[in-house]
Amino acid sequence: MVHKMKKIISVTKGDGCGPEVVNEGIKVLNTIEEYSDYDFELIEAPAGGEVWKKFGTNLPDKSFQTIKDSDALLFGAIGLPDLQPGVAESAILKLRQGLDLYVNLRPVKLYDNLREICPLKDKFIGDGIDITFVRENTERIYKNIGKLEDDSAENVMLYSRKGCERIIKHAFEIAKRKGHNKVTSVDKANILKPSQLWRKIFHEIHKDYPDLDTEDIYVDAFCQWLIRAPFKFQTVVTGNMFGDIISDEAAFLIGSLGMASSGNIHPGKVSMYEPIHGSAPDIAGKGIANPIGTILSVKLMMEESFNSLDIGNEIDKAVEAALHEGRTVDIKSKNLKTLSTIEMGDLIAIKLKSSLKA
Ligand code: NAD
Ligand code: IPM
Ligand code: MN
Repeated sequence: MVHKMKKIISVTKGDGCGPEVVNEGIKVLNTIEEYSDYDFELIEAPAGGEVWKKFGTNLPDKSFQTIKDSDALLFGAIGLPDLQPGVAESAILKLRQGLDLYVNLRPVKLYDNLREICPLKDKFIGDGIDITFVRENTERIYKNIGKLEDDSAENVMLYSRKGCERIIKHAFEIAKRKGHNKVTSVDKANILKPSQLWRKIFHEIHKDYPDLDTEDIYVDAFCQWLIRAPFKFQTVVTGNMFGDIISDEAAFLIGSLGMASSGNIHPGKVSMYEPIHGSAPDIAGKGIANPIGTILSVKLMMEESFNSLDIGNEIDKAVEAALHEGRTVDIKSKNLKTLSTIEMGDLIAIKLKSSLKA
């Protein structure tokens, strides 16, 4: 009998379209399990707005414990329009900060057959878009420091040397691993003190990577460069809030927010994988959400948590092959069949099955 590699995966489906897309991620995990040496045990760890309504907490202790005891977390999206902003969403920060998931890895790649969907003219797409965003994920303005009063409110943008060093180092390591020749740092050092510390540390760390080029770009100008010449960028490292914003902009360049994946990672420890989009209340429950961002998050889980680059690559190829045959409505093409969330997941699973079987 072949010895199977056991992995415990906690699963938070969440709110809105979260359960719909996570079910397709699970479909891909089941396919991997069937045709490889992995044995996955999936355990649900509810969190988010619906859970808050029932239990008065967006992350029950039991869920947090389940997640802590697992090898990785597959997460959908949380947030409900009938709750105050943040009531559900702060569960994400509890996870990122509670598990010290300091790397938010957000790769953004335009599949060749989605060039027609990209909102940019061909000359701006150039030889393609393939950017690895490395977003700091535990610090800066996202730390829960501040106050909300009736006539004023504040958040503190706090950055530690340790926090800058570890994320910037990680970005240089990723660039090396991916064979990139440049790391771009995005900041606002012309105005913000934390960015000034960040920029200083970026150049200190660069000294350990003399083979890599660097550039510094202010975040406002970066937003412009991202649509003017996205092909210029390879690895991009930035702070928590800037990373949040520019990754949504980048996601639309590859066709849809529904296409973009992410890993919230602490190397060597339990890490969390989720599409970058939210609970999408405008389309939730209609069966039309694009599950590819979630499926590509499973790819990241295989690569980053389970060190399985081969299976990651097969998932990538399966997605690309499926995109030749059918599309969810957000990336629809007049010559191809428009698919539901479930049909898109089925098609990718079929493609993956045939390559893993071979
Ligand atoms: P959103 O990402 O949910 O949606 C923005 C737009 O993108 C919408 O038009 C939506 O239909 C579209 N979209 C999102 N996912 C899609 C998919 N898979 N396929 C096709 N189209 C998709 O952002 P929002 O509307 O600002 O936020 C909705 C809720 O989600 C809020 O409560 C917000 O706080 C929360 N949120 C949660 C997360 C998370 O759980 N990680 C991330 C972002 C936002
Ligand atoms: C994301 C989301 C979260 C963030 C929110 C919902 C806390 O927008 O994952 O991109 O700001 O990081
Ligand atoms: Mn976001």
